[in-house]
Amino acid sequence: MSVLLAPGPVPVLKEISEAQCKEMITHRSGDFTKLYGDLVTRLKNYFGAEEAYVITGSGALGLETLILNLCERNDRVLCLPNGEFGDHQATTVKVYADAVVQRLEDGKGWSLERAKPFIDESRANVLAMVYNETSMGVRNDIREICKYAKSKGMLTIVDGISAWPGTEFSMQEFFVDAFVTGSQKGIAAPPGMALIGLSKEAAERYSKRANIPSYYCDLRRHKKRYLQDQQTPNTPAVTLFWALQKAFDVLDAGGGLPAAVKRHREASEHVRSRLKAMGFHLTAEAGFESNTVTGFVCRDAEQAKSIKAKLATDYQIKIVGARGKYKDNGLRMAHMGNFEMKDLDACLDAIGKIIQG
Ligand SMILES: Cc1ncc(COP(=O)(O)O)c(C=O)c1O
Repeated sequence: MSVLLAPGPVPVLKEISEAQCKEMITHRSGDFTKLYGDLVTRLKNYFGAEEAYVITGSGALGLETLILNLCERNDRVLCLPNGEFGDHQATTVKVYADAVVQRLEDGKGWSLERAKPFIDESRANVLAMVYNETSMGVRNDIREICKYAKSKGMLTIVDGISAWPGTEFSMQEFFVDAFVTGSQKGIAAPPGMALIGLSKEAAERYSKRANIPSYYCDLRRHKKRYLQDQQTPNTPAVTLFWALQKAFDVLDAGGGLPAAVKRHREASEHVRSRLKAMGFHLTAEAGFESNTVTGFVCRDAEQAKSIKAKLATDYQIKIVGARGKYKDNGLRMAHMGNFEMKDLDACLDAIGKIIQG
């Protein structure tokens, strides 16, 4: 058996995988109504959302759904990227609205102190950010930044795709109006579903719009069908929805969000301290380290290549390369989802042996 320590898709527990192996049902049935009603209720509770939906598609589709439903051409959207996924978010915003982009160097984290001048100067009415910048293993301080942005009357959209449920979060406490995560990340279900949450303000905003530039992603259709019979407007990935329900059972049984956050935080601290003890620098600025993925810088590109290759061939452990500024000499190791500490330690032990030659 190989060990997958990539930041999504993450390994899927057997019981979650097997939840998909049932006799097919139609999505226009009472059974589906029960299933989707349960998923939406759990999502609303976990996020603290006014409305929640599961969109069949990857995380990026969920993010685009939020943006196109909430931003119009005449909206000025302040985007604060600090890595590849923040760049993708800004590119998506540009398709639908007027984007003002302020970027931090790869590896640096957004604090309120850094974001405040841009919020003050931008004259933007929407803020779009990434919570956990997966490409760098950086966690941005969305709590303080969104709180300040809301005090300035802005609507806040957060990509939490690789953050949740490994990182503290509540839409209300974090002043977030629109949030998305992906099924293949911390909830550790198979890929193919975007989980989105909306605040009351965000729900009112899209509901009032006359034109939304999408058919499939038009949340007015999702809402209408949900209110009618707790179903989805188009055929959903029914089998994946079963898996997601089981993934929620596993999350609940493990102690819910507080326990998931603690488990991820402790694992991240352990991984960072062992990597530092081996002499590696981290890709993330101190104070902004991610709970779910750690990036580390190797001596040079050759060492990075050799660690990644030897882990795969000699130890059957799969980690991934870093991105951006560290794409040649950096590596990333995930501690996301239902990982086991013994696998993280096996990976770290192996890295130690490889670098000793
Ligand atoms: C922070 C972040 N945003 C967006 C995405 C894109 O998600 P997907 O590949 O599910 O569309 C990812 C994927 O790794 C991500 O980590």
